[in-house]
Amino acid sequence: MKCKILKTEINSFMSFGKMPIANGFLKEENFDNEFFFNLDIGFSEKISLLQLNDHPTPEQMFNKNYPFYTGSSEFMKAHFANYADSVKKYLKTNSRLIEIGSNDGTFLKNFINSNINILGFEPTENTALEAKKRGIKTINNFFSQKNISDLKDFLNNTDLICGANVICHIPDLTDTIKAVDKLLSKKGVFIFEEPYLGSMFKKTSYDQIYDEHIFIFSATSIQKIFNLFDFELIDLIPQITHGGSMRYILARKGQRNINSIVKKILDDEKKMNLDNLQSCINFKKNCEISKNNLKGKIENLKSKGKRICGYAATSKSTTVLNYCKIGTEFIEFICDTTKEKIGKYSPGMHIPIVSMNHFYEQKPDVAFLFAWNHKEEIFNKEKNFTENKGEWISHVKL
Ligand code: TMP
Repeated sequence: MKCKILKTEINSFMSFGKMPIANGFLKEENFDNEFFFNLDIGFSEKISLLQLNDHPTPEQMFNKNYPFYTGSSEFMKAHFANYADSVKKYLKTNSRLIEIGSNDGTFLKNFINSNINILGFEPTENTALEAKKRGIKTINNFFSQKNISDLKDFLNNTDLICGANVICHIPDLTDTIKAVDKLLSKKGVFIFEEPYLGSMFKKTSYDQIYDEHIFIFSATSIQKIFNLFDFELIDLIPQITHGGSMRYILARKGQRNINSIVKKILDDEKKMNLDNLQSCINFKKNCEISKNNLKGKIENLKSKGKRICGYAATSKSTTVLNYCKIGTEFIEFICDTTKEKIGKYSPGMHIPIVSMNHFYEQKPDVAFLFAWNHKEEIFNKEKNFTENKGEWISHVKL
């Protein structure tokens, strides 16, 4: 097996089994032709990169019905406002700013009515349309060398390129970096944040692994990969989003000062064996333990006659439900706020997705919190459930 970047060898070390598309919520009439692939992961020691061995095409994952809007979470809206504030130091009057994977414009809208020229790249039609409605200039396409070639005003002239939860989705990372290289000005900066390998290993949050997350990055892997393209890490900012993410800040080599935290985090990662296969082998063992514990817990609750529902039909839940083989015999329904998901079924295990009203009317005993990374916001909203002895469970520590 070859790594998609640099064609280095990758060691395949774990399989989560047959898996559908994580965001492939579907109607009953489509059960028979549902798409599955083998969710296997490997590690390339040369660039310390954890990646999927196989994945669906980007067009299968990011299409006109992509059911995720960044703005669906109040917490994420506030997060993106802070993110926008923190990057202003890299911009000057009339700077150009591009966001890769701009979704409904939640991040870029913070720059509307400023003197910054903003541009979003968003392949999913429904979310790009939302952004356009907000007056955000959006190219409804994938970010790639081919798709930036006409942007004459932006080539070699973009001071900042940002992304969040998007770079790990793009299979051809080499092409992405080359496109970034073509766009950035001499002192330009590339910033992106993604679920962090260190947090995933620490929490055994294996649900970060699904079709869209082709790579799970660490500072070590980012440093090694970008070094090959004459970029270097100048700063790192750990984030609490998505159960633990890392914001990577990169510039052309020698163009900007390097924050001392970069060395500290790289050293910490070495101690955690994030640069080699040992940490992956431990993770695999922990996933198997977690799966057995979760099945035991759910079977125990069912044997006591408890009614269990799922709370929030997240993309991550697809890995948990299919890896642990949890279907409607355990979980009656999953409630969610997203209109595109309600009335459909969960990928693979076919649990009905219902509106929040169903949750309030049915009053289940137990709620499996699939959106565990939004627990503060959700616990705050659902005080009634908790006060009425509703029990929250998850495969990770809540
Ligand atoms: P994601 O983890 O794949 O981004 O999906 C998050 C899902 O969680 C999305 O479908 C919306 C849903 N959600 C709720 O239903 N209620 C909530 O309070 C929050 C924060 C999210």
